[in-house]
Amino acid sequence: MDRFLIQGGVPLAGRVRVAGAKNAALPILAATLMAEGPCRLDGVPDLRDIRTMLDLLGLLGVRAERQGDGSLVTEVVDRTPCRAPYELVKTMRASICVLGPLLGARGRAEVSFPGGCQIGPRPVDLHLKGLAGLGATVRVEGGYIVAQAAARGPDREIYLGGPFGPTVTGTANVLCAAVLTPGTTVLQAAAMEPEVTDLARFLCAMGARIAGIGGPTLVVEGVTGLRGAAWRVIPDRIEAGTLLTAAVMTGGDVTVTGVDPQALTAPLDLLARMGVTVGRPAPDEVRVAATGRPHPADVVTLPYPGFPTDLQAQFMALLCVAAGNSFVTEKVYPERFIHVAELQRMGARIRKEGPTAMVEGVAELSGCPVMASDLRASAALVVAGLGARGETVVDRVYHIDRGYEAIEVKLRALGARIARENPVREGGGG
Ligand code: EPU
Repeated sequence: MDRFLIQGGVPLAGRVRVAGAKNAALPILAATLMAEGPCRLDGVPDLRDIRTMLDLLGLLGVRAERQGDGSLVTEVVDRTPCRAPYELVKTMRASICVLGPLLGARGRAEVSFPGGCQIGPRPVDLHLKGLAGLGATVRVEGGYIVAQAAARGPDREIYLGGPFGPTVTGTANVLCAAVLTPGTTVLQAAAMEPEVTDLARFLCAMGARIAGIGGPTLVVEGVTGLRGAAWRVIPDRIEAGTLLTAAVMTGGDVTVTGVDPQALTAPLDLLARMGVTVGRPAPDEVRVAATGRPHPADVVTLPYPGFPTDLQAQFMALLCVAAGNSFVTEKVYPERFIHVAELQRMGARIRKEGPTAMVEGVAELSGCPVMASDLRASAALVVAGLGARGETVVDRVYHIDRGYEAIEVKLRALGARIARENPVREGGGG
């Protein structure tokens, strides 16, 4: 099992390019199931989760090949398989992304019901409600979600809001199935995350007819088929945000390149409130420069365009060394605080009350052995380790490899002292 050895305290400096977005690439890859010709995707990061999705697509009759230029070419060679097996789904929750495309393109989907997750309960009731709203028969049988498309029904309006706001992959699933469902589908309270927008635009490039992209109401006119398309996946705003927090944690001066600053509005606003100098040297670049301890700040995670839950842990690491007290409230996954105990081991003063953590800033964290648990919590431990005094050993970094492409290589290029030990890889997650 790999681990990271980090010698903290080196200010990061330089320029670093972010990869394509994992959470955009996953549903886009799943959507290639529906194409009637080859698709060429640029910017698909080389990650553990992406490889899992490619394995799953392989079982579902999609051939995918990395080209010399890094692009990925997919082609459907068998349109009969409809089953996403437990063995693969249990290693990655995002396997659920094939549910809508299978139902839309093949009229039937059998997808293993995803299990528990480190970041709290992750129900899929809204996915099922949305597909049923399209007229499909949906039931759970033997641990599988079994969905069967209906013959043509009346036009429909589907509300996708839930107790914690809209659902990202739920919107992706229902949208994919809707584009190949005859008639008009109006999706209300659709997720507006840039990753959903990217999927919708890719579907349009394949011939789908979707209005309202980027907003909460999507109007879909069903089409009878989708062609293959070429697409470039959007930059990973969460990787960008993670690298920016690492820069600030070390009092560094770093420019992330190849990003969409618009998609980072809330995190950049928070950094500015924390006293960090934030600039945009070019339309696709963000530069942060930090000196001294950050100001304390209150953070509330919300669906886009609110502050992303996928950056909550990394910013909490930063607030651990702020000059004062901060409140961090998690409104998307109220139990997503698994990083708190490990940060406390590094000397952080955090008190958790329900979905809120009160963080009392300390002058510095001190390095120690910590355990990676889920993807973003683990990223937060790396951020904390880079700023801490002494050595931090982050165990089980396979969690980080699920969502960050060679993060230690990128950090080393910025001057960080971080090394990977034990090259044997294993594991999986949600
Ligand atoms: N929810 C329901 N019912 C549903 C679906 C969701 O109540 O049927 C609730 C969830 O429990 C949660 C909230 O709605 O409280 C939002 O969940 P959502 O469905 O939007 O999450 P997701 O689609 O399963 C994606 C990302 C997550 C990211 C969330 C929120 C992918 C593959 N995953 O998950 O990314 O945290 O949206 O933005 O896109 C990560 O990359 O580390 C990660 C966990």
